[in-house]
Amino acid sequence: MGMHGILVQQQRLLEAIILAALAASASAAEPTNSSCIRTCGSLQIPYPFGTTEGCYLDPAFLITCHDSTPFLRRGHIKVLNISLDGELRVTTPIGHDCPNNETTSSYNYELSLLTFSVSYTRNKFTALGCDTYAIIRGTLEKQNFATGCISVCSKIDSVVNGSCSGIGCCQTSIPHGMKNFRVVLRSFNHHSKVGDFNPCSFGFIAEEKAYNFSSLDLINFQNRKTLPLVLDWAVGKETCPDAQKNSTTYACNAEHSECENSPNGPGYRCICRSGYEGNPYLSNDCKDINECEISNPCNTTCTNIPGSFKCDCPKGYEGDGMKNGTGCRLIVTRYRSIPLLLGIGIGFLVLLVGASWIYWGLKRRKLIKLKEKFFKQNGGLMLQQQLSNFEGSVEPAKIFSTKELKKATNNYDESKILGQGGNGIVFKGVLPGNKAVAIKKSKVFDRSQTKQFINEVCLLTQINHRNVVKLLGCCLETRVPILVYEFITNGTLFEHIHYKSHLFSLSWENRMKIAVESAGALAYLHSEASMPIIHRDVKTANILLDDNLTAKVADFGASRLISLDETQVNTLVQGTFGYLDPEYFHSGQLTEKSDVYSFGVVVAELLTGRRAILSDKTEGERNLAMYFVSSVIEDRLLQILDNHIVNEGNIEELKEVANLAKKCLSVRGEDRPSMKEVAMELEGLRNMKKNPQEKVDLKTEETKYVVTNSTQSFSIDAGTSNSSTVTTTVAYDGTIKGR
Ligand SMILES: *[C@@H]1O[C@H](CO)[C@@H](O)[C@H](O)[C@H]1NC(C)=O
Ligand SMILES: *[C@@H]1O[C@H](CO)[C@@H](O)[C@H](O)[C@H]1NC(C)=O
Ligand SMILES: *[C@@H]1O[C@H](CO)[C@@H](O)[C@H](O)[C@H]1NC(C)=O
Ligand SMILES: *[C@@H]1O[C@H](CO)[C@@H](O)[C@H](O)[C@H]1NC(C)=O
Ligand SMILES: *[C@@H]1O[C@H](CO)[C@@H](O)[C@H](O)[C@H]1NC(C)=O
Ligand SMILES: *[C@@H]1O[C@H](CO)[C@@H](O)[C@H](O)[C@H]1NC(C)=O
Ligand SMILES: *[C@@H]1O[C@H](CO)[C@@H](O)[C@H](O)[C@H]1NC(C)=O
Ligand SMILES: *[C@@H]1O[C@H](CO)[C@@H](O)[C@H](O)[C@H]1NC(C)=O
Repeated sequence: MGMHGILVQQQRLLEAIILAALAASASAAEPTNSSCIRTCGSLQIPYPFGTTEGCYLDPAFLITCHDSTPFLRRGHIKVLNISLDGELRVTTPIGHDCPNNETTSSYNYELSLLTFSVSYTRNKFTALGCDTYAIIRGTLEKQNFATGCISVCSKIDSVVNGSCSGIGCCQTSIPHGMKNFRVVLRSFNHHSKVGDFNPCSFGFIAEEKAYNFSSLDLINFQNRKTLPLVLDWAVGKETCPDAQKNSTTYACNAEHSECENSPNGPGYRCICRSGYEGNPYLSNDCKDINECEISNPCNTTCTNIPGSFKCDCPKGYEGDGMKNGTGCRLIVTRYRSIPLLLGIGIGFLVLLVGASWIYWGLKRRKLIKLKEKFFKQNGGLMLQQQLSNFEGSVEPAKIFSTKELKKATNNYDESKILGQGGNGIVFKGVLPGNKAVAIKKSKVFDRSQTKQFINEVCLLTQINHRNVVKLLGCCLETRVPILVYEFITNGTLFEHIHYKSHLFSLSWENRMKIAVESAGALAYLHSEASMPIIHRDVKTANILLDDNLTAKVADFGASRLISLDETQVNTLVQGTFGYLDPEYFHSGQLTEKSDVYSFGVVVAELLTGRRAILSDKTEGERNLAMYFVSSVIEDRLLQILDNHIVNEGNIEELKEVANLAKKCLSVRGEDRPSMKEVAMELEGLRNMKKNPQEKVDLKTEETKYVVTNSTQSFSIDAGTSNSSTVTTTVAYDGTIKGR
């Protein structure tokens, strides 16, 4: 053991030396000197205050103890209490002025060294008397000040105990940073009128809490000589940041000690950090507060930790565990929380429903307003008026509501789209009563033509021709009016000619029938008494077929109803390229003959089975019209005819129809036959073949017509080919002879 024991002893010795050295260095900085007297009478004198040199921080904190009575420094101000939080309670004399007894009427109060300030939060200046005015004068930071109050009363009964508002007692606040003061008392009438109940005035600056005014004090207050005064004490004259710069003089070096600027004048104070208590001016004196032992703030297990504490809730509980906090609560299980969640959920739902109800309500109102606006803008009122005046054999136009149409088209479902073009979209709809309709939503509408639009809607709904798609009505509640037509079942002529997948290729007979019927429809509308209706957009895509392959011309006049969409390159000129009348295109002058030209293209399409715009550029022409005309002129008709329709029996008929088409395609409108002539000629050709014996009857009818209109010659500019002029003559029998 020998060796080991010596080592241990040596180590202990070393530790002792180190501890001694540490203690010595600490005592150099702080007076842990046990010989320091820390009491005087009943007063505790904590450091930085001290009674002897080496026991206080600096001479400002000297307490002189005389016969167990502590005095501030070497003066005569008695110290009542020293608090480490920066307050010092001392006694202050009470000034009195008794005019009949020639006593002093003022007193001075000066704090030695001017280091401590009179607390402005704890003290008040108070004067008592019924014939009194009292003044305080003092020095703040290098400036003087004066303030005071007046107290007057005529009877003792008029004063109120506890109230210092100028009757028997008055009070004022004192300013910041006051270090010394002088109280001066004066009377107005030497108390001559109030002497029996108030012979003297009194004045003092004292702790507010320490004095309660009583009417008795007006009579014999002079028995009391002093009151407590609270001073704010502080270390040095610097603020915390400045003081911290010099660690040799900085007073708050101790562990868990913090610096705090003095609230009243220069200097700083030290405080123990929160959760610690002790003397912050002494090293190792800020001790952890054991909150658990002292106050036990926890409702459950309390654990003290340095500077704080912890309340631990048992397992399965939650909360802060504090008595005055949430305490510990059983953790609500998910099962238990279901009703709560349900409640929240339902509440939320109700809120949501309410909000959306309001939202939709507002939106609906807005929508209704908008609908009304559109209805008016689109001439709805005008139409209603016209319809009410309307007395015809046919059903008048119906004004549909957006709601009806939405329902009919299943809210414009994509699957209901029948066709889509530059002008708009056509939906299939089903009205109540299982009536199928085609609903055309157009893109653009020219508001300047509202009146015309309404007129045409009225006009078109009156047209009851078996080869015209019937306009049933319209809806005006949208930005652009929606038109509702009867629904035609079997697609467009365009599809029948050009979609090879169509099971049945149209026979010539059927093509002829369609041509005759559409020509008849066009002629009928051109001859409409009140206002010739020009289609403007005759094309195979606008000739619909029903199950019996009966032609139904669609979109009649719609091009004017639905004005000018974005394809409007030339103002007002519209139509479909390939079908567009070149004269109309160049001049902008629209006549019935434009429809004749377009119809010529339709017939050429029927004959050749080719599209109006040729896809095959090797044919040298872009337009079927040009290509067709030049082929007819150059006698190449047989080469361009649709193979499906040519047979031994009908070649002559085809040629005649081709010639008619060629005439329709004349460049100059006046060179084209009218639609009526075209219709009659086609009818004639068709009937001749069907019933040769009826030929005579027809001829007489036709002759009658042709005679009234006189024979015409048509001049055709063959366009690009040789620009030769060819003259054709319409013979009385309706055939066309060309050279
Ligand atoms: C303790 O105080 C006494 C008297 O004030 C003084 O004489 C002595 O030197 C002090 N001791 C230390 C270690 O400061
Ligand atoms: C002196 O102050 C301490 C706290 O600092 C307090 O407990 C004590 O009651 C006070 N004594 C007087 C006479 O005010
Ligand atoms: C005035 O002084 C006399 C004695 O000098 C004393 O008896 C009397 O009470 C005093 N009066 C007042 C109002 O202080
Ligand atoms: C002043 O009155 C209040 C209540 O009126 C009382 O609590 C307080 O102790 C009194 N102070 C003195 C110094 O009498
Ligand atoms: C004020 O209180 C005292 C007792 O404290 C009482 O004798 C006196 O009559 C009171 N004065 C008034 C005006 O209420
Ligand atoms: C710190 O204060 C002491 C005493 O007032 C002084 O001698 C010393 O120069 C100061 N140090 C600094 C860095 O200011
Ligand atoms: C709750 O207790 C803490 C510590 O005991 C205390 O600081 C706080 O003021 C209390 N709060 C209330 C509302 O009592
Ligand atoms: C604290 O505990 C007591 C009994 O243990 C209980 O009555 C009280 O409600 C609790 N307080 C809190 C805030 O949890």
